[in-house]
Amino acid sequence: MDIYAIRLFEIDANLFKILIKYVSEERKNRICKLKNNRDKNRILISELLTRKIIYKKLKLNNDQIYFDKNQFGKPFLKDYENFYFNISHSGKWIICATDCKTIGIDIEKIRSINYKELAKNYFTNEECRFILETSANNQIRNFYRMWTLKESYIKAEGRGLSIPLKSFSIDINNKRINKVNSGYCEYFLKEIEIDYYYKMSVCSLNPSISNDVIIISENNLVNTFLNKTI
Ligand code: COA
Ligand code: MG
Repeated sequence: MDIYAIRLFEIDANLFKILIKYVSEERKNRICKLKNNRDKNRILISELLTRKIIYKKLKLNNDQIYFDKNQFGKPFLKDYENFYFNISHSGKWIICATDCKTIGIDIEKIRSINYKELAKNYFTNEECRFILETSANNQIRNFYRMWTLKESYIKAEGRGLSIPLKSFSIDINNKRINKVNSGYCEYFLKEIEIDYYYKMSVCSLNPSISNDVIIISENNLVNTFLNKTI
């Protein structure tokens, strides 16, 4: 299993026109509907990063890469059953995890929000207790730890919020998921440090989850496409 990350970067209009040619029609349409340049760049870079990783792992050229989505919108690589990936983006980070088994990843920028109210509404009693048992300063960080762990699980399952958030509880010490009434499920969890102002978690069927994050530079990504390496 590998985890890749890239920082969101600005793209001038000329380069944007070149790079957008490398992504799927679906993504081009999505990008065109966005107003904000930062959002356009984020959505463009996230697919370029995924394509670069697929090229690196499977030696597929760009025109051999086709994506599809499950009924809940989770993208997968068409015709490659043993290759799994999942993307997440928040603030300045775009991340992508790949594995030979189902995987989910989530990153969230720590923002000042009404975490007590959110936790009460969406988290189980044990999860709320974990968030509130620490000093006031650390509660928000614990809230985001829990948030990304929960979301990494629903993203691994690929069923989005059709999984009720209170139907399972994160056992943060054992890094396992407790399903209400049916005990531990088959997934494993890991929290990974990437940036003090963010929380990031991975959920995998694979017990050995990587600690390392491979940071891809802006130049490296852009040159892969400009030099037609891919
Ligand atoms: N399962 C897994 N991954 C999915 C997915 C699904 N059903 N649907 C989309 N994705 C992938 C996509 O690749 C997407 O990236 P892209 O748009 O560049 O292709 C990526 O997930 C987005 O993930 P993230 O950046 O973490 O987005 P999000 O946090 O806004 O949304 C989803 C996460 C995708 C699962 C969304 O459907 C959702 O349910 N959002 C609610 C978030 C929430 O309330 N979480 C509670 C946590 S306690
Ligand atoms: Mg998310």
